[in-house]
Amino acid sequence: MNILILGSGGREHTFAYKLSQSNRCENLFVAPGNAGTSEIATNVSISVNDFEAIKKCVLNNEINMVVVGPEDPLVNGIADYFLSDSELKNVMLIGPSKAGALLEGSKERAKEFMIDHQIPTAAYQSFTEETLREGKQFLETLKPPYVLKADGLAAGKGVLILNDIDEAKNELEDMLSNSKFGAASATVVIEEFLDGIELSIFVLTDGKNYKILPTAKDYKRIGEGDKGLNTGGMGAISPVPFVDDVLMKKIEERIVIPTVNGLQKENIDYKGFVFIGLIKVNNEPFVIEYNVRMGDPETEVVLPRIKSDLVELFEATFKQQLDKVSIELDQRAATTVMLVSGGYPEAYEKGKVISGIKNIDDSIVFHAGTTTKDGNIVTNGGRVLAITSMNEDYKKALKKSYQNIEKLHFDTMNYRRDIGFDLT
Ligand code: AMP
Ligand code: GLY
Repeated sequence: MNILILGSGGREHTFAYKLSQSNRCENLFVAPGNAGTSEIATNVSISVNDFEAIKKCVLNNEINMVVVGPEDPLVNGIADYFLSDSELKNVMLIGPSKAGALLEGSKERAKEFMIDHQIPTAAYQSFTEETLREGKQFLETLKPPYVLKADGLAAGKGVLILNDIDEAKNELEDMLSNSKFGAASATVVIEEFLDGIELSIFVLTDGKNYKILPTAKDYKRIGEGDKGLNTGGMGAISPVPFVDDVLMKKIEERIVIPTVNGLQKENIDYKGFVFIGLIKVNNEPFVIEYNVRMGDPETEVVLPRIKSDLVELFEATFKQQLDKVSIELDQRAATTVMLVSGGYPEAYEKGKVISGIKNIDDSIVFHAGTTTKDGNIVTNGGRVLAITSMNEDYKKALKKSYQNIEKLHFDTMNYRRDIGFDLT
């Protein structure tokens, strides 16, 4: 069949890598893609939010399956757009409906969903400009640190964790009254701070049945020792070494099953990924957030560990037959290290020539922000390349990623040398 992937990052290159291995995949397209995807698929220069252009591309190329990488088109209703169009409704789109995507699109909605379905999460209340005074009073009842979350999508920047009560009150006012994060902070969720270690689990669901994919842990801060600004993610490891069977059973029973059952009870059409951000507090799992897509760079370690045919898994997802397929996993560990542009996550330059990719044969080089120019592969984003390695344990896999990074170069290249530092 013909398949279209929407997106342009390391996640989408990994989808392309995995889907292109399937005998079922005839022609593969990525919109808009990057230099890496152009080597194994056809890049189409279309924005992920231009539904009409996507429709034309699907019809012109007789696309049978569309895999949506980022959250934006999902929150904007791409699944509903396909389902309500007579020419598109049989195209197997992998991604939830707009109602499902609200689990990521609105933190308040996600909290309400968790409370309604008894899913463990931090206690919270939400506030608007009209209830700013009550919000400040609520902060007084909490112990520091204070967690403030803009309700809507804020490009990963909408969560503030503050130690000082006055600063927390000022930030709350800035979010609600001065639109600190635009419309995204018209509502703010204030929640209890949970002290523990984070991990992520990934679930593929057809809205009725589900498969739990490998666990992963990402490293969000730019600096070593988890210092400095938040990024999209500087590296990841799968599986998460501290997740044992006891913890996994709690996660499945208290979180995964109630989540899938909750979607079903609320009649939400959901055929896609649920990426659940968790925090483990004294061996008890709590949900920090839902995402309605795969993580990046988590995909770069999760998908290489899935041996099963991804096209078949997606087809079963669309047909609500996930109970009829099984997932085979590679028991080895996978690690990825992100190479980023100097300056990222703040201002950085693009267009730097990347050398050395061809010298690497025992790691997978996933492209994130790259493009081609004058016959060269050049940087085209903050996160540039993800170097994924597999080995019997994550330390050996990491060693391989770091050895191969020595062979790569671009002007201003930066990366964290301590991925996995907190796991020993
Ligand atoms: P989110 O965008 O909801 O994932 O939040 C961003 C980051 O803030 C998370 O990855 C956590 O590190 C942190 N965080 C969010 N909520 C809490 C909480 N209730 N307690 C402690 N840390 C939190
Ligand atoms: N790596 C975190 C995310 O994809 O949201």
